[in-house]
Amino acid sequence: MRQVLHGHIIHAPELGKLEIIENGYMHLEDGRIAGLGQELLPGWADGERVDYGDRLIMQSFCDMHLHAPQYPMLGMGMDLPLLEWLNTYTFKTEARFKDVDYAREVYRRLAQELVSNGTTRVCAFSSLHLESTRVLMEEFEKAGICGYVGKVNMDRNGSPELEETTEDSIRDTIAWLDGCDPSAHIQPILTPRFTPSCTDELMAELGRLAKARGLRVQSHLSENTSEIAWVRELHPDCPQYWESYEKYGLFGSHTVMAHCVHSDAREREAIRRNNVVVAHCPDSNINLISGVAPIRRMLDEGIWVTLGSDIAGGAILPMMGVIASAIRSSKVRRISENWGVDFLTVAEGYYLGTTSGAKYFGSGNGFACGDGLHAIVIDDRHYVDTGRLSVRDRFERAIYRADANDIKAVYSEGRKIKG
Ligand code: GUN
Ligand code: FE
Repeated sequence: MRQVLHGHIIHAPELGKLEIIENGYMHLEDGRIAGLGQELLPGWADGERVDYGDRLIMQSFCDMHLHAPQYPMLGMGMDLPLLEWLNTYTFKTEARFKDVDYAREVYRRLAQELVSNGTTRVCAFSSLHLESTRVLMEEFEKAGICGYVGKVNMDRNGSPELEETTEDSIRDTIAWLDGCDPSAHIQPILTPRFTPSCTDELMAELGRLAKARGLRVQSHLSENTSEIAWVRELHPDCPQYWESYEKYGLFGSHTVMAHCVHSDAREREAIRRNNVVVAHCPDSNINLISGVAPIRRMLDEGIWVTLGSDIAGGAILPMMGVIASAIRSSKVRRISENWGVDFLTVAEGYYLGTTSGAKYFGSGNGFACGDGLHAIVIDDRHYVDTGRLSVRDRFERAIYRADANDIKAVYSEGRKIKG
């Protein structure tokens, strides 16, 4: 089926570069992008036409790190650093997901809020519970979200209500993997919570599974200084935190590592060399007083950086807010380094929240031909001065100001899932 969307098209084909096509046409063939431009292609004249007029057609967002079972505590419990925060609030909240009915209700609402805010692809942590993880995958799938969900592995240092034995962890992980539908939009990703949560035996088994089944991996790395010191005690043979993953085959290409706030030059070089993906979670890093990640430096070094909300360490679910937070945080870093390092521009922040994450799911640069459409349509006409502003300025204002009410339509993998 041929379809054409008309409006102001804005996308980020490369880091720092915005391409804007005013009054442009987005040509679709069965939901896949067949071409963008100022002119309507002849073969599309008879196709379905959706005229978005003076609205902005932008790429939708990729949230590369979020904890679905922390959604109930979103916006609360912000007065403790990471390890105390996990023990005081987080494990208790996640333990409730033993109840599958509760999980169904919460995950349905989370999926709705993600879609409503234009997040169409995710890399999400579930809890350690097998059944609720299935429910999370189902609810994301039903809502039209694409990406990865991981059943969390944690067989030590949890809490009485949130911990599994090594045997249960391995058995449930295999049962979960075997039950996943290979044709679904939501696929499984191995998810050792972080080194302190997993015994060596469990890490070794997950590494074997990753290799045998060609699975992707996600975890946390160098978020907080107390955490790093703890990992050093647990793995005295590992000079650095990342090596506690690498030792077990859990630090390969496309492994998503959240945070990397305190990764020094040697750790960053290992990240780059292994094609590990950094999920930068700026709002979480400030809330949990973790630090300000050296994102500008990582980009200059050629590291693959993406963005995550990290709810509920992060208190901002909409990725436009996370992008603004990443930009702000890069400026804090610039200030704290006495202007010795550059900040992120708005165009760069937008790239990190869209194209950089999209590549993890196999997409090309920006709105690339052949890709299923992942887009949002923003109506900013009720803000002041819209008629007098350039599309570029309206785009920037949308990143800083737009909310779910301004997002009139959302497309995910060619399917319209909002509006
Ligand atoms: N490290 C281990 N678990 C977590 C978590 O749930 N959130 C964050 N931010 N860091 C973690
Ligand atoms: Fe996290």
